[in-house]
Amino acid sequence: MNDLAGKHLVLGLSGGIACYKAAELCRALVKAGASVQVVMTEAAAHFITPTTMQALSGRAVFCSQWDERPAGGVDNSMAHINLSREADAIVVAPASADFMAKLIHGRADDLLSLMCLARPLDRVPLLLAPAMNREMWAHPATQRNVAQLRADGAVVLEVGVGEQACGEIGDGRMLEPDELLYDVSRLFRPKVLAGQQVVVSAGPTFEAIDPVRGLTNLSSGKMGFAIARAAHEAGASVTLVAGPVSLPTPRGVERINVRSALDMQRALNALTQTATVFISAAAVADWRPASTTDEKIKKDGSGRVPILEFVENPDILAGIAATPRARSGALYCVGFAAESHDLLAHAQAKRARKGVPLLVGNIGPDTFGQDDNALLLVDAHGTSELTRATKLQLARQLVGEIARRLPGAAAG
Ligand code: C5P
Repeated sequence: MNDLAGKHLVLGLSGGIACYKAAELCRALVKAGASVQVVMTEAAAHFITPTTMQALSGRAVFCSQWDERPAGGVDNSMAHINLSREADAIVVAPASADFMAKLIHGRADDLLSLMCLARPLDRVPLLLAPAMNREMWAHPATQRNVAQLRADGAVVLEVGVGEQACGEIGDGRMLEPDELLYDVSRLFRPKVLAGQQVVVSAGPTFEAIDPVRGLTNLSSGKMGFAIARAAHEAGASVTLVAGPVSLPTPRGVERINVRSALDMQRALNALTQTATVFISAAAVADWRPASTTDEKIKKDGSGRVPILEFVENPDILAGIAATPRARSGALYCVGFAAESHDLLAHAQAKRARKGVPLLVGNIGPDTFGQDDNALLLVDAHGTSELTRATKLQLARQLVGEIARRLPGAAAG
């Protein structure tokens, strides 16, 4: 998706073996619509060539503050000013231990550190992706520097864990290019849910009949996962309670896997005691077998079929919407409705029945398993439509709609 369309980024590389991942990151940033100006330290050029980065970014790479080529279209031999003024963000990946140590002192003896110092603090965010050996990362000096950089307004990302180029295993690897791409894109999303604790339920439930069989439905979980991602992009702390689906967990989101409606209810009841927003996108099975067997039910060859008895599952959302926290507005509840016809009437009726302030309707067969969807929002004031788009685009719009409705949100 073109998440970075119209954005101009400075991608800075300091010295470290993780420079090879910066090549892939550069490509991903360009693919996401950004224009990328690469700036490298002398140490970085020992690990990867400026030619590689030029080919991937489509722009001449700058390495020295003494470079006299016009920069940013201005021929004043001040690359550090010109390049930092035109940037929407400076992303340093990899950020070496030495480079970070330099930044905390405001030292500026090479083009990249000069640009970090010269950037307008109020409008050009600085994002650092550290990469180093685990002992270097754990050293009190590095940890002190990271804390100082954060206090000075830089966004210092966490590091990955695992096998390192030196052969040791531990913390200090640079994040992967796809993780960095997400973190860079997130930088530009409006933080409309900052400070909110959001709980999202997603996917189907599975109601066991015996150890190998069960009752479930076709929900893919895609909408709920997209909502969890959009809420995290918007600055919320997000917990996703997921039925059995194999989708990857959105970055930065805490995931709790559940199987049956009763498992899901237990998890959600606990989480919504402190959450501020609950978005119920799961397709909870309406019924479960009245009893399950520990052993597989066998065919006995007689042609007789087992008669299964079902009981109704609890309505998780209605139960949570009836709690004092939800009724007082401390917890804002959002329900979903998948209907095959008369969407408006059913959505309005469902909103009243569940006792939620906002009900989001979609046409079931049009959405299950698909990557795009269209939504109908029903609240106390009326209805509005979010026209067909990808589930992530809709999730972002929905998050904006929810943020507008939260107690204390600015009117309009
Ligand atoms: O009643 P129906 O299943 O159509 O309602 C859909 C909405 O209610 C969704 O938000 C779904 O997550 C929630 N729900 C629930 N517990 C159930 C059934 C549905 O929380 N047992």
